[in-house]
Amino acid sequence: MVDRPSLIDVTVPSEDLSYSVVVGPGMLGRVGIEVRRAHPRARKVALISDEKVMALHGGPVRRALEGEGLQVVPWTIPPGEVSKTPERMLHAVSTLVATGFGRNDAVVALGGGVVGDLAGLVAALFMRGVGFVQVPTSLLAQVDASVGGKVAVDLPQGKNLLGAFHFPRGVLIDPEVLSTLPDVELASGLAEMLKHGLLFSRAHVDALIEGVDAVFQRDPAVLGPLVAMSVALKAACVSRDPLEKSGAGKGRILLNLGHTVGHAIEAASSYALRHGEAVALGLCAAARISVRKGLAEPELESEVIHALERLRLPTDLDPWLAGDRGRKVERALVYDKKRAQDTITYIALAQIGEPRSLAMRVPEILGLLR
Ligand SMILES: NC(=O)c1ccc[n+]([C@@H]2O[C@H](COP(=O)([O-])OP(=O)(O)OC[C@H]3O[C@@H](n4cnc5c(N)ncnc54)[C@H](O)[C@@H]3O)[C@@H](O)[C@H]2O)c1
Ligand SMILES: [Zn+2]
Repeated sequence: MVDRPSLIDVTVPSEDLSYSVVVGPGMLGRVGIEVRRAHPRARKVALISDEKVMALHGGPVRRALEGEGLQVVPWTIPPGEVSKTPERMLHAVSTLVATGFGRNDAVVALGGGVVGDLAGLVAALFMRGVGFVQVPTSLLAQVDASVGGKVAVDLPQGKNLLGAFHFPRGVLIDPEVLSTLPDVELASGLAEMLKHGLLFSRAHVDALIEGVDAVFQRDPAVLGPLVAMSVALKAACVSRDPLEKSGAGKGRILLNLGHTVGHAIEAASSYALRHGEAVALGLCAAARISVRKGLAEPELESEVIHALERLRLPTDLDPWLAGDRGRKVERALVYDKKRAQDTITYIALAQIGEPRSLAMRVPEILGLLR
């Protein structure tokens, strides 16, 4: 059992803005104390969530904030990516203006990555930036979206096109909230956790596979340390490159493992696949390319497939490489936003824990996969 919360530090360019991620059961009840500590002069807190998460977990958070004498202004969106729009973001900003928010007041994001990204952008833009605290409630948001300071909303032309870097003052992770998260959402988060392991730590890959049954039983004693390890691996990476300025081979670009082909499949499925499911297929692609490029031993591909199967994630990549679907994936790859002229920085693996970045063109990527 995890008795004490894990503490992970994330470094950002200006030292006074570095922040901690705290992982531990019962964190929801401590949100008030932590927000008060991070924002000693705050009077008001905007509690931004989606309707589903607010109904499930808003009560304890609200009470914890009010217990510290903070006036809570709740604001919710309908669940899902459809709500991550500039219109909703501006609506939230208008609510802050109407309720007399000041620059010492704070935003708390309680929810999945959609809520975290939108609330973070609200905090980044209101009065040129107010403080915010992330309380991520989906596994994907706990291990990925809430750490690293990227905040954004979508435009009709593409996802996350209107965004900023705005680092939270703290990230509070309670593994107990995952008790209400549906299995498919849990698996989606596991895809990102596996990505962290494949990039940086074989021990993490093994621990995920070993713990998977307890994870699906929502055992906080197993979930807590696994989440903390994933966060630590991502935090170490983003701390080396807080603003995504490092070139190929280092820094945040590595976190793109599985995402080049993954994003293309996600788009080609018209977002019928969840992000984590598409990333799972993207990880299969990365393993196959690593082997066929002669970078990795052939076992890498079967190791990755085995891990994904154990984590209840899809591995059936081939149907996305041929016919109509294949053409859609190809078109989506060509529009990859990380494309520099006609090459893509493609993240591959020499083995588990040893990422490599390659400069590749779309025809070469598809040629190696097919
Ligand atoms: N900023 C970043 O660095 C970063 C990184 C990865 C992903 N993201 C963004 O995150 C978003 C995806 O995040 P997501 O998968 O969390 O999506 P999401 O926020 O839509 O949450 C998924 C679903 O789970 C529900 N949910 C969340 N917590 C719950 C709980 N504890 N119990 C029951 N239901 C719960 C939500 O209501 C929603 O229906 C995307 O918009 C993506 O662009 C951002
Ligand atoms: Zn991702």
